[in-house]
Amino acid sequence: MSDTLTKLGYQTFQQGKNYFGLAHKIIGTRLMNMISPQEAQTKPIPPEVILKIQERLNNLLEVDWQDAEQGVYPISVLFDNPWEDFFRYYPLELLDLAQRWERVKHKKYQEFSSNVDTVGYPTYYVQNFHHQTDGYLSDLSANLYDLQVEILFGGSADAMRRRILAPLKAAIAQTLRTTSLHPRQVRILDVACGTGRTIRFIRATLPQASLYGTDLSPAYLRKANELLSQIPGELPQLIQANAEELPYLDNYFHAVTSVFLFHELPPAVRQSVIDEAFRVTKPGGTFIICDSIQMSDSPDLEFIMQGFPEAFHEPYYQHYMTDNLVERLEKAGFENIETQVHFMSKYLIARKPA
Ligand SMILES: C[S@@+](CC[C@H](N)C(=O)[O-])C[C@H]1O[C@@H](n2cnc3c(N)ncnc32)[C@H](O)[C@@H]1O
Repeated sequence: MSDTLTKLGYQTFQQGKNYFGLAHKIIGTRLMNMISPQEAQTKPIPPEVILKIQERLNNLLEVDWQDAEQGVYPISVLFDNPWEDFFRYYPLELLDLAQRWERVKHKKYQEFSSNVDTVGYPTYYVQNFHHQTDGYLSDLSANLYDLQVEILFGGSADAMRRRILAPLKAAIAQTLRTTSLHPRQVRILDVACGTGRTIRFIRATLPQASLYGTDLSPAYLRKANELLSQIPGELPQLIQANAEELPYLDNYFHAVTSVFLFHELPPAVRQSVIDEAFRVTKPGGTFIICDSIQMSDSPDLEFIMQGFPEAFHEPYYQHYMTDNLVERLEKAGFENIETQVHFMSKYLIARKPA
């Protein structure tokens, strides 16, 4: 009975987030219609695609519930949400819309506030991804990011991130079975950790493991530090680093994860990052990627994929859509690559030969 109620609570919670995302999109479109009518023209999503998306979303939430019920992570994790931030920064998100539309209208994709230092970052990174003000390089961007991603995915971003947890936990259980390691000696790295939400979920799933996170953005790392320092257990070690040159020894981590990074990298950089993940993963260790669906696994959602790069300024997405990530992983040396798809994301679980 209590499980049924909790499940109902979870479904209601998710539906609430979904309605919130929808309401925001309606408000945004109306505001844009008032300010700049021509810019609001977007092609409507075909009804069969809407049905497909709804079906995939329901499946995602069911798997999320089942993983929690089976103890992969605590049920409380399903309700984890940065409410304080959401209420605090939502007005700023609305205020920021006008600036974003201006950039969209004038096709400005590399515009940064004068106090943002863009020197020293790779050129491919110095972009207003998602038309975000200051790209990934300011505190304002870091404060708005989680809210924006939740709106984009109708409140399901965390449920998608959590799909890395079952294979990660299974991989670490296997490591612990075959070695004499104490769980505290297990090292897990999240590459391009952003504001730290994935690390927060890994901490709930593997409370004793030593956790590490890297990202290129100091502002996002600051935000991640804020989020992660609220939870009990050892503070994860966060370091500013390019995923192409990780500041770690060879064969250092039992598992490496990366969420929503690869579609934002040019093709050659995708390969360098995979090669680097291979280098720092221990023999027998596991690398898990979570990123956007691709044409090979979701041809029925081509309409959504085709519209995404323009609507959200994703300069490398067109190539990403058909990139063969399995081939790239094999080229680096990974094997036994398993692929999964949940809602709008795909997952690649790869092992480094023992
Ligand atoms: C779409 S966000 C995903 C963040 C986070 N993993 C999540 O689940 O929300 C992409 C992240 O990748 C980081 N990033 C992009 N290119 C990078 C690179 N070459 N090295 C390290 N981080 C990078 C950005 O700073 C940003 O935090």
